[in-house]
Amino acid sequence: MTAKITLIQDDITTLAVDAIVNAANESLLGGGGVDGAIHRAAGPQLLAFCKTLGGCPTGEARITPGFDLPARHIIHTVGPVWRGGQQQEAALLSACYRNSLVLADQLGVRDIAFPAISCGVYGYPVEAACKIAVDTISETVSGLPDMRKVILCAFDDVVYQAWLTALGGSAYH
Ligand code: AR6
Repeated sequence: MTAKITLIQDDITTLAVDAIVNAANESLLGGGGVDGAIHRAAGPQLLAFCKTLGGCPTGEARITPGFDLPARHIIHTVGPVWRGGQQQEAALLSACYRNSLVLADQLGVRDIAFPAISCGVYGYPVEAACKIAVDTISETVSGLPDMRKVILCAFDDVVYQAWLTALGGSAYH
């Protein structure tokens, strides 16, 4: 059966799922936005673990334990900085969702929650980013029969509405 895609509005650090995804930067050493919130909630062991990883190129993904989070794992992915749309931003954003899901699946993750990667500090136009997210997740999970649930976790109303539109108007699929 293909995984269900569900839209919620919440703080991703509170979710008790197999994995949450972090919108990190290439250093993997923390930052603001959802990255800062995840590091605060996971505790200092997360930074110590991340220091051993040697960073992560844009579009790729790395996994760590969730430490003090209710989530078991954190998938750290690095979204593209929006530079006008001619710098492979769409392909790189799509790669973030695809690589996160494939890595999670390889590690036995059955339910996973995503924030809106690149939609904050990195400035990706929200409507376009949310459509790429939904299209890529739908396409990828169709090849991952063991994945049960993918949660789109919006923090603000703008992202929630953009994801709802990309899902065709229904929060449950
Ligand atoms: N739960 C869910 N979503 C959240 C939360 C939260 N607790 N907090 C923020 N968001 P951003 P980016 C939403 O800026 O654009 C960091 O400094 C937020 O409303 O966190 O990929 C990194 O270290 C927005 O919709 O990530 C990088 O340097 C979305 O998460 C850089 O920011 C993404 O916003 C990455 O920028």
